[in-house]
Amino acid sequence: MYILPSESKRLFLVPILAVMAIQFLFVRTVSSVNMTNTYLHHKCFVDQGKYEPGSKYEENLNFIIEPIPVTSESFEKGTKMEMIGEGPDLISFTLQCRGDISGPRCRSCYATALSALHRRCPGYKGRMIWYDQCILEISTIDSLDKIDYNNNLCVSNAKKMMAHYYSNSDWLDLIHNLTTKALRQGNSKGMYYAAGETRLGMDNIYAMVQCSFYLSSKDCEKCLRHNIKHYEDCCFNRQGARVLGKSCSFRYEFYPFFFEKSRRPKYLKI
Ligand SMILES: *[C@@H]1O[C@H](CO)[C@@H](O)[C@H](O)[C@H]1NC(C)=O
Repeated sequence: MYILPSESKRLFLVPILAVMAIQFLFVRTVSSVNMTNTYLHHKCFVDQGKYEPGSKYEENLNFIIEPIPVTSESFEKGTKMEMIGEGPDLISFTLQCRGDISGPRCRSCYATALSALHRRCPGYKGRMIWYDQCILEISTIDSLDKIDYNNNLCVSNAKKMMAHYYSNSDWLDLIHNLTTKALRQGNSKGMYYAAGETRLGMDNIYAMVQCSFYLSSKDCEKCLRHNIKHYEDCCFNRQGARVLGKSCSFRYEFYPFFFEKSRRPKYLKI
């Protein structure tokens, strides 16, 4: 015997449509907010000391930060690492834009980061600043070919993951797969980078991994695995988290946060 199929269908459909509408709005709102370039954190390396106006150090500093032209391939690649000077006047400069941020977006993040760094750490030789779309470090320590374990930032969502739906293994699985992909693709584009998403029940998880190009693929993997373990307390069971460093970074969210368009390595064709 049939019991009013149209009635029951309607009753069933309404809550589902309502849930879909709410989800759609939620994703839209959050993602549009997060496409902006947010300031996250900064550090003045007090133990590296300060420099005097008119000193050799300042001359080196001006040399290293001034001449980055708008069309520089550094911005196309999304990264620039350079060293200048020696002894107390040595400057190690690292700009690392997020893997999907290049060209004008990378340049704009750099300009913002540089002026904020001057303002927040005036006169300090060593300083570092984290934005959503780039990291900038100026330091007196030559550490370019080593994994930097000391200056990582973890930012996580205060909300707990819906534990009855998802577990850490869901995002870890995606991060591990992306790591494999980033390592396989190599660092020809200026850095190791992979981003992707995976469907989980009603939701999507979005993630990215990134390593600096100066690391070997072995060190890239080592850096990511170390940071996942080291920041367990910060990342695990959260509805999204990111660990951002000079050597490697990873992030996962329940909303899209990266630009889809793949980087065009124009500089390779010139
Ligand atoms: C990770 O890769 C494995 C092997 O290719 C695959 O079976 C699995 O579905 C992938 N998981 C995610 C979350 O991408």
